[in-house]
Amino acid sequence: TRPLKVALLGCGTVGSEVARIMTTHAEDLAARIGAPVELAGVAVRRPDRVREGIDPALVTTDAAALARRADVDVVVEVIGGIEPARALITSAFENGASVVTANKALLAEDGPTLHEAAEKHGADLYYEAAVAAAIPLVRPLRESLAGDKVNRVLGIVNGTTNFILDRMDSSGTGYGEALDEATALGYAEADPTADVEGFDAAAKAAILAGIAFHTRVRLDDVHREGLTEVSAADIASAKRMGCTVKLLAICERSADGRSVTARVHPAMIPLSHPLSNVREAYNAVFVESDAAGQLMFYGPGAGGAPTASAVLGDLVAACRNKLNGGRGPGESSYAQLPVSPMGEV
Ligand code: NDP
Ligand code: HSE
Repeated sequence: TRPLKVALLGCGTVGSEVARIMTTHAEDLAARIGAPVELAGVAVRRPDRVREGIDPALVTTDAAALARRADVDVVVEVIGGIEPARALITSAFENGASVVTANKALLAEDGPTLHEAAEKHGADLYYEAAVAAAIPLVRPLRESLAGDKVNRVLGIVNGTTNFILDRMDSSGTGYGEALDEATALGYAEADPTADVEGFDAAAKAAILAGIAFHTRVRLDDVHREGLTEVSAADIASAKRMGCTVKLLAICERSADGRSVTARVHPAMIPLSHPLSNVREAYNAVFVESDAAGQLMFYGPGAGGAPTASAVLGDLVAACRNKLNGGRGPGESSYAQLPVSPMGEV
């Protein structure tokens, strides 16, 4: 069987782990997919940086040329941001390649356009890593719960802010120092404003609400409050009341089922609630549905290796489809329900 070729766009915190696992798990991946998987190239901004385990001959700064190379089967986009990521993904689809991305900012901004482009060219778009890193959440909502009716998705979906709040609460670390630590550990976005001002959690809320309620939800539809207004004194006073502060994302279907709401804001959580025990950069999300009842998803919500785990899972799925002519689940948004940021409070 011919090897499947993968173009890796970005080789930072996430991309370097994707490349590492592709190499170290090469035999297992080939067995699971039914064909070997090879890197066709690795696109970066700074080609002269030493990248452990990456063949320098594969490194290029021309991401556009790599994304549309005729022999590429799957493009993995882990550059981040809106452009050039959007143009690169679009040209990958035009070239007939499937795409795996961790880019929540782009999906929340323009997900439907990407899904349409994938559909038009008979390609797959997978994005498990875009929400809560290693935690399987996108696939359960898109596939496992597709026959149920989800009414609520609620939880902690940003690792950086959970790490900061946890450090401030448990060891009295200052906000700035905790943010620096989260950045050094590879949890924060390239611009950490996206984390601390709630944009990242809001993008994830938009993605989750879209797939949970089968409607289109954009970043601007999500009410957003970040961490910047939360002081050490707020955390101390929550503690005195037997609570801790967490940044929550809450997506709900209205009681009559005719509209949805999505919001992100800090909240006081009683210490008796499971969300209060979510430490470091872990995430935890409750999904409530008619038939299944309440489900809880919990695990590492940020970082290179956990995120790469989700990317690799998607890569296996996309490669299997390439090999056997199958297709991924596609976009499930068939309705356009009104979306309000807060709903009735
Ligand atoms: P990094 O900033 O660590 O890596 C970005 C990579 O993209 C770098 O290799 C950089 O090159 C490369 N790059 C930037 N611009 C270009 C360009 N124009 N052309 C080619 N390459 C370019 O980001 P992360 O790995 O942390 O994040 C990547 C994506 O994954 C983002 O969408 C992020 O939101 C998402 N994500 C991240 C998680 C995390 O925990 N870090 C978790 C879940 C999702 P160079 O190395 O030369 O600078
Ligand atoms: N910056 C993000 C976070 C990465 O801290 O949750 C994972 O999506």
